[in-house]
Amino acid sequence: MSAAESDSLRTQVALIGMGTVGTEVARILTEKSETMTHRAGRDIRLKRVVVRDATKPRNVELPAGTVADNIQDIIDDNEIDVVVQLIGGIEPAREIMLACLAAGKDVVTANKALICEHGDELFAKAREQGQSIAYEAAVAGGIPIIAVMGQSLTANQIVSIEAILNGTSNFILSEMLAEGRPYEKVLKEAQRLGYAEADPTMDVDGTDAAQKLVILSQLAFGTKVPIADFPREGIDKLDLLDLQYARELGYIVKLLAVAKLVTGQLELHVQPTLVRKEQPLAQVNGPYNMIALTGDELGRAWFAGAGAGGVATASAVVADLIDTVVGRTALTFRRNDLWSERPSLPVQPAEEISRRYYLRFMVDDKPHVLADIADILGRHGISIASVVQHETPETSPDEANGNCVPLVIMTHTTTEGKLRSADEELDALSSVHPPHSRMPVLD
Ligand code: NAP
Ligand code: HSE
Repeated sequence: MSAAESDSLRTQVALIGMGTVGTEVARILTEKSETMTHRAGRDIRLKRVVVRDATKPRNVELPAGTVADNIQDIIDDNEIDVVVQLIGGIEPAREIMLACLAAGKDVVTANKALICEHGDELFAKAREQGQSIAYEAAVAGGIPIIAVMGQSLTANQIVSIEAILNGTSNFILSEMLAEGRPYEKVLKEAQRLGYAEADPTMDVDGTDAAQKLVILSQLAFGTKVPIADFPREGIDKLDLLDLQYARELGYIVKLLAVAKLVTGQLELHVQPTLVRKEQPLAQVNGPYNMIALTGDELGRAWFAGAGAGGVATASAVVADLIDTVVGRTALTFRRNDLWSERPSLPVQPAEEISRRYYLRFMVDDKPHVLADIADILGRHGISIASVVQHETPETSPDEANGNCVPLVIMTHTTTEGKLRSADEELDALSSVHPPHSRMPVLD
């Protein structure tokens, strides 16, 4: 076979970033090259890897001269057809991706922050250039949820997405509750195991899950909702006490990302949520993710698997690479609703979001405290479903003033707005020690 003939059966690939995910991508491409060639129908050759520090020791052995630190080498190399972009954050990732697209290269990425914030610009550039962007690994690690929504469920209008989308948070919540391990220690372990982002603040404050929810909502509803436009809370302010009370009440606390159609509007939020323990979502532990989708034709379906970590994420990245080489990505990329011209749906105002809530107050164990709280809730139209206050040792009326106890209230269905309006009065009660905890409930 001539050199020209063998080149026509080969796709040359470049990798930008060889950290947690990039290392595993390079390993799969080198260790399983025959299988990959068979599945892509042509040879996939990892021609170049660009990192920040080319002198750093790497865990994958590559031919001498493959690893470099000059991105321009990739952009200027006409033999490179596909760039796998695995650096995090917005800049320089955005500029690099635009330059790769402008140079006529297809791109595969796992960078959800970038797709969430600049997807419109990047997708427009790719369409203008006749290139594609594959981003399966950007949402839910190894779970092929983008393919499910972009291809397998296209007969449906998705009506709801309820999902665990951050592996780090789910790992922390599971370990805290099951093993009683302190938050800080489990977070450090999540970082060591490669689940967390370079800056783990994004994992634990709900930003990472919100970015993924924005991408899924865009795909399901054709609507881009900025993160600032919906309620977002993380697990960083949670108290173990609330995880334990929730379990006692028959619920498991999960960082739940929700997007659903409610009378022509989009309800979106990312919040620690009490999930009824019989629900599949409550049973997902460790760095795993689950997406519960409801389609108007299919009904409900659940997709679960490893949501974080180098190996699981690389599984999705390499599958995207093969799809790109085979030509499948180009076909779906042109047609899906991601940053297309479809009219946007309005976002439901946070005050109107309607559900049950868990409330926990730290109160002085003395007369009329429960009555005061019930009175405020009642006056704001919030109905109490149940109350838990555990017995403490009997004290004299004087001692009772210093005896602070948890008081847990489950409400009937109410709105975020009613609770917000009651907050100020509740926290002003002299026998209630702010702040109080509040989490929505998924029955
Ligand atoms: P990481 O371990 O921090 O690795 C980042 C890599 O990018 C490193 O190899 C670094 O080079 C390189 N890099 C950074 N800035 C660069 C620059 N300006 N020029 C060239 N190379 C640069 O990150 P990661 O965990 O693999 O994550 C990569 C992407 O995948 C992120 O967008 C992340 O959100 C996403 N993701 C991660 C996971 C996960 O579980 N980790 C899961 C899904 C998606 P050096 O090695 O020389 O420092
Ligand atoms: N840091 C992310 C997580 C990686 O913990 O879910 C997967 O996107």
